[in-house]
Amino acid sequence: MQKTVLITGGAGFIGSALVRYYLNSTAHSVVNVDKLTYAANSENLPREPDLSRYHFYQQDISDSVAMLSIIKQHRPDVVFNLAAESHVDRSIANYKAFVESNVLGTLNLLDVCQQYLQTSNPLDFKFIQVSTDEVYGDILQGEFAESDAFNPSSPYSASKAAADHFINAWVRTYDFPAIVTHCSNNFGAGQHAEKLIPKIINRALQGEPIPIYGDGQQVRDWLYVDDHVLALNLVWKRGVIGSRYNIGGSNELSNIDLTHKICHILDERCAKLGIERQVKHFADLVTFVSDRPGHDIRYAVNCNKIKNELGWRPFFSFDSALASTVGWYVSKIK
Ligand SMILES: NC(=O)c1ccc[n+]([C@@H]2O[C@H](COP(=O)([O-])OP(=O)(O)OC[C@H]3O[C@@H](n4cnc5c(N)ncnc54)[C@H](O)[C@@H]3O)[C@@H](O)[C@H]2O)c1
Repeated sequence: MQKTVLITGGAGFIGSALVRYYLNSTAHSVVNVDKLTYAANSENLPREPDLSRYHFYQQDISDSVAMLSIIKQHRPDVVFNLAAESHVDRSIANYKAFVESNVLGTLNLLDVCQQYLQTSNPLDFKFIQVSTDEVYGDILQGEFAESDAFNPSSPYSASKAAADHFINAWVRTYDFPAIVTHCSNNFGAGQHAEKLIPKIINRALQGEPIPIYGDGQQVRDWLYVDDHVLALNLVWKRGVIGSRYNIGGSNELSNIDLTHKICHILDERCAKLGIERQVKHFADLVTFVSDRPGHDIRYAVNCNKIKNELGWRPFFSFDSALASTVGWYVSKIK
């Protein structure tokens, strides 16, 4: 049955992958609401501006009048909230935009959706909040389960945790039909150049130092963005209201090991394509720089719940997804 899917932050990295999934693989209508901050990429948006089941609004999710009007006009069956300031380093330099978009913006959406529920009484409406594994803080051994408490370290993760607490309060106090997901680090095509994987590739191909924080031993789990999209769709279809679901790729790597892996892929690809480079091995460009303040040592989430209850599994192999991701960035730079 054709549904209406409202995605906030749909011009960003993950949101745009979700927009493309619903437009290319389903018959659903898609409403994309994005403020178009520096992090948005118009190349991520669908090429068919006249597609009748696609609607784009350049809009701040904190604007209650505009958001209520969009929601009442389109009557979504689901709202996926991905709009956020997403870069940890920027949150350390200036937290304000993070509070405005991630906390107050989410609260405004909750308020507006609650008004929509009360006045329009839509059937089976769900609000899916795309949060992060970073809300749990770091863990040296083992994995965080959904029942674990939050212990965020950065202004970014604190803002995401604050929004998650408000959602929990809305579920408990107003029976609001929300679900929260906690994903690990996403990778894939179309990510902003400030993020680790595009930064490694761009710096390497330009023959510039590849900066790695501290000793590079911080461990992250990597989730391919298209696997994340499939997980989010399952959370909408089968997820239990009031629940939290961890989503990870089971691909734990230290930052330095990931960097070496990417440099190795680039070495091979450049040799094969005859691309000139300034160093014999791109890994020679790695430069250790002062560690990020409050840098979490390791993130790890246990994903048994989404696997056992919703039947989700990562579909793509990490090595082939990473190779095709590297290939995508190389093709953009060449
Ligand atoms: N990328 C990751 O690895 C990762 C990991 C865990 C969680 N997340 C979460 O997933 C979501 C999407 O992440 P991403 O990497 O695609 O981010 P992104 O920075 O690439 O995109 C965010 C998008 O949100 C828009 N936006 C920001 N503030 C807005 C506002 N007030 N109103 C409307 N639009 C606004 C931006 O213009 C941008 O297009 C975020 O909520 C982030 O916290 C991301």
